[in-house]
Amino acid sequence: MKKTISLILAAVMILAAFALTGCSSTDYKSLDGIKKAGKLVVYTEAGFPPYEFVSDNEIVGVDIQIMKAVAEKIGVTLEVKDVAFNTICASVKTGKAAVGAAGITIDDERKASVDFSEPYSSTEQYVIVAIDNDSIKTVEDLNGKQIGVQEGTTSDFLVSDLISKGTLANSALKSFLAPAIAAAQIGKIDAVIADKLTAGIIVANNSDKYKTFKLTDKNGGDVGETEQYGIAVAKGNTELLAVINEVIDELLKDGSIEKWVTEYSELAKKIEESTASTGESTNG
Ligand code: ARG
Repeated sequence: MKKTISLILAAVMILAAFALTGCSSTDYKSLDGIKKAGKLVVYTEAGFPPYEFVSDNEIVGVDIQIMKAVAEKIGVTLEVKDVAFNTICASVKTGKAAVGAAGITIDDERKASVDFSEPYSSTEQYVIVAIDNDSIKTVEDLNGKQIGVQEGTTSDFLVSDLISKGTLANSALKSFLAPAIAAAQIGKIDAVIADKLTAGIIVANNSDKYKTFKLTDKNGGDVGETEQYGIAVAKGNTELLAVINEVIDELLKDGSIEKWVTEYSELAKKIEESTASTGESTNG
């Protein structure tokens, strides 16, 4: 009899424990919480084609396609929010967002606050200058110049680093909310540093104004490292991370990510072309 009572008690306690953890996980830091909410809340910064940009009042791009597949696999709806890039990891950390998907480079500093998926794309840093600028060809030429970056990005970190290390001792760093906004200032500033594909799209849409090339030193050596993009989730959200990694694995294997990079680059070039011509007619 005693045995039965203690067994029942143990069962009740286990159930209570389950109920309690169930209650406390209604945030986005666990897969359970996300399922309960019925939505996957993704933070991004939508000025970053082809990974995320606005087309027909909708945020689209490679990262959005990846997150659509993840939401589908979990069985919840997708909610994408456009925020300042430098706030994304903090919002993922505190559980305001379930995921940060914004062409985020996996780096050690960020790894201290969030966990990253497997890499799904890679990039390097490119320079954008005015088309008739023949004096800036290498990183050394950028010393003493005004350099624009998107705030809180690896381009920002790299230039800051080069300033403090002395290579760019006399340069001024200007930060903007998006790479295209920075590029629009060329003329007032000398150069913009941004991730390769985004720089390429900005220049393709303004090929009469700007050119872009890989940032190297005067010997043609690399400045900065090849970077890998990962999806950010709250630390310890291993169940969500497992789903994301599974999806990324499939999308890399079946060529979807590569296909989306091409498709959304083409779409972004069409869109910004029309924006650029509108801008021109206002100026002229
Ligand atoms: N890869 C760079 C970084 O992680 C730039 C990312 C910018 N992304 C964006 N959606 N604006 O810092």
